Amino acid sequence: MKKHVIFLEVEGGNDKGTDGLRPDTMPIVNSLKAVGWTAEVIFYTEAKKKELIEHIAAEADAYISRINPGNLDDESSYFEMLRQLTNRGVVGLERPEVMMSYGAKDVLVKLRDTSLVPTDTFAYYNMTDFIENFPKHLAKGERVLKQNRGSTGEGIWRVELVNKEEVDINGALFTAQVKCTEAKDNQVYNFQLGEFMNFCEQYIEGENGMLVDMKFLPRIVEGEIRILMINDQPVNVVHKKPAEDADAFSATLFSGAKYRYDTPADWPVLIKLFKEKLPMIIGILGDYDLPLIWTADFILDTDEHGNDKYILGEMNCSCVGFTSHLELSDDVARAIVKLVTKNKSKELA
Ligand SMILES: Nc1ncnc2c1ncn2[C@@H]1O[C@H](COP(=O)(O)OP(=O)(O)OP(=O)(O)O)[C@@H](O)[C@H]1O
Ligand SMILES: [Mg+2]
Repeated sequence: MKKHVIFLEVEGGNDKGTDGLRPDTMPIVNSLKAVGWTAEVIFYTEAKKKELIEHIAAEADAYISRINPGNLDDESSYFEMLRQLTNRGVVGLERPEVMMSYGAKDVLVKLRDTSLVPTDTFAYYNMTDFIENFPKHLAKGERVLKQNRGSTGEGIWRVELVNKEEVDINGALFTAQVKCTEAKDNQVYNFQLGEFMNFCEQYIEGENGMLVDMKFLPRIVEGEIRILMINDQPVNVVHKKPAEDADAFSATLFSGAKYRYDTPADWPVLIKLFKEKLPMIIGILGDYDLPLIWTADFILDTDEHGNDKYILGEMNCSCVGFTSHLELSDDVARAIVKLVTKNKSKELA
């Protein structure tokens, strides 16, 4: 083994620190040095692709991808580079298929037969299916529609029938009035249902387009609970409480939500539950190693006996980092060494 890894970043975007890199990148690089490894950081550009493949394949045991897909012009071209690298024996942290499996919004549908996600959670990949089924689900109660792309609440809509009587046997009427609140900024818009569904076509069309449809969980006002994971270890918990305004339901960064940083020990029930479910999650999502850095977000619900129940709202893994608690870099470096060593020895065996 070369004991050398290469971090991939991209120039620009609002996720950078004063050094132009993700705030936790240099701390991780330094933590790797402290355990006898070396690392370099490279800015990816489409133009440098060929040269990068040769350099990384020759010099590094692994790449660590630290790029928000929103900051790339052509994500599939970048993924293609990552695939070429793993084909040449470079350990991928993460591989594109792992990013897609853990990070895409339809992860919720894959996990709906576990107790972590309500069984009435759906994904639509075409307009026909969306038009046929969404009105039926909406007729039964308030829903949240989630687009796959974008982050920080863009294209995440809470949808509510203004008048519960505007339904027939096919569900809510296309002419029914709906109140739609976007998680980006908790702004409320009034639409006719048919009009709103046509507006949503933008989320369904194109590569990786989809809409996930899940029930609205009113206890979101108590907060969303994010577990930050370094591989198989929960390392901290962020409690995100939506703004106090009447329609606010968003826990995203720019919506006015308040963030509080806790430890896993502050959330024993949730952490125990999640750890118990991890083997099952790994199996359902394709039997990959758990990602290097990833998150799982939970919202409280109440079960039929009146007890608290934690519901998974989303997972992220393609560009998760930390901007506080930079000492976590030591844990990340240890996890990198563990994952790279394990995968390299598998290759040699
Ligand atoms: N089923 C639900 N019930 C109530 N509120 C929800 C539900 N799903 C999502 N939300 C709210 O909407 C917000 C945005 O949704 P979500 O986290 O799925 O999207 P996102 O845009 O990917 O956000 P992020 O920037 O965290 O990746 C959540 O933080 C939460 O406050
Ligand atoms: Mg979220």
